Amino acid sequence: MVKAPACTFVIFGVSGDLAARKLIPALFELHREGAMHEDTQIVGYARRDWDDDELRTRMRDALIKYGHGDFDQALWDDLAPRLSFCQGNYEGGEGYHALANHLKSLSHETHLFYTATPPSTYESIANGLGQAGLNQSDARFIIEKPFGTDLESAKALNATILKNFDEEQVYRIDHYLAKETAQNIAALRFANTIFEPTWNSQYVDHVQVTMAEPMGIEGRGSFYEQAGVVRDVVQNHLLQLAALVATEPPASYDAKSVRDEKVKVLRAMHCVQVGDAVMGQYVSGSAHSSHQNSYRDEEGVDSRSRQATYAAIELRIDNWRWAGVPFYIRSGKRLVSKSSEIVIYYKTPPHVPFQFRKPPREDRIVLRLVPNEGISIRYNAKVPGQGISLNTASMDFYYNEQFKRRNPDAYETLLLDAMMGDATLFMRADEVEEQWRIVMPILNTWENANDEPAFYESGSWGPEEADDMLARSGRRWHAPQTESR
Ligand code: BG6
Repeated sequence: MVKAPACTFVIFGVSGDLAARKLIPALFELHREGAMHEDTQIVGYARRDWDDDELRTRMRDALIKYGHGDFDQALWDDLAPRLSFCQGNYEGGEGYHALANHLKSLSHETHLFYTATPPSTYESIANGLGQAGLNQSDARFIIEKPFGTDLESAKALNATILKNFDEEQVYRIDHYLAKETAQNIAALRFANTIFEPTWNSQYVDHVQVTMAEPMGIEGRGSFYEQAGVVRDVVQNHLLQLAALVATEPPASYDAKSVRDEKVKVLRAMHCVQVGDAVMGQYVSGSAHSSHQNSYRDEEGVDSRSRQATYAAIELRIDNWRWAGVPFYIRSGKRLVSKSSEIVIYYKTPPHVPFQFRKPPREDRIVLRLVPNEGISIRYNAKVPGQGISLNTASMDFYYNEQFKRRNPDAYETLLLDAMMGDATLFMRADEVEEQWRIVMPILNTWENANDEPAFYESGSWGPEEADDMLARSGRRWHAPQTESR
């Protein structure tokens, strides 16, 4: 069992949704598992006029509502006294001095600062901490996405942060990197010999990355109007998954080696057929037997909005391993189900010696993030009986069947890693900037055009145009599993 050294964990924006839904439940689980040091202190910082008791009551309520396991009163009684509140604004000055004094009274050397606040506050928090001298070498600055809104703003944000902290102190979150199945991509590729020899353009026809969600924008209309699907999930989660599939083997699994390799592959990655990228938007539907609004009817959304809630994009990677192999990535809100997966499609054999009516299907490796986390290998097998007739067979690995252990939530992994000082699963400045460089042509082309988005019905698999995009090269989207086993 890993146990992190003692620290003080400061949550900026502790009164917000992220703290209640993700951070406090994750810290509570780490406490339950004994991974968080018994001397670790948690400080909530917000503008609200709360005190320690109010913070504790709110966080207890949050745990009951959003906690991962059963709420355990004895465990809570143990943790609650280690929570304290510090009031202040984010603009700098007084609040940060109050925080500095508060931290002195808790007498830990290591301070972790987590920005669970609106992105517009990130720069002032970095500056405020710097001005209050809270950026000493054992401080860590953990920053949530979205990291900027385009390449220029991401560069400016990096510059401000790096004026106050060294890169080694900065932990940029992309929670997809901490999902068990995302980490398992490295294990599959680099801890085995059977996959890696075929993991290249000689054998792989193309790669698909899908992140589908049944939810709409969940009351985040004004955020989503600014962000859209490309800024919200393509620039970060989808590109990270594509990079994990495509990266070269690192010499060792540490922050520098892993991130060096990811940056190398991201530098070689670019969008092709930018004008053919499909930008879609959901319209009403009655999936899951309830009526669902059109995006344009959601609260906080312009009734003529062109914002994309769905995108399908073709990427290429110009390097020796991947030249000529399309990476198709797609994501959308209000699709059939919550399904995220990566599918490696292999080329068909150069010669098949059997006679049959239909040619055999391509072999596929399916890496499932959700539902049914696991891996399936789909291949052709002989159907029993006289003569040779082929059908698809499958070898399946399901995490929950193979390993009788709970999959930790991504935030548990990330918070523990940050406490341990391990930045392998966090993004480096150059990585984030490369990801913006990759999506900028898509954003610029779409934002400078006047076309209507490709509309799709809520509860479908997205616009027909996305099917056409693959059909043009004789391919089709993989149908993800939709039901949990
Ligand atoms: C977030 C996006 O980063 O990821 C959300 O802002 C999205 O729009 C969420 O719903 C999906 O995360 P997960 O872990 O539920 O797949």
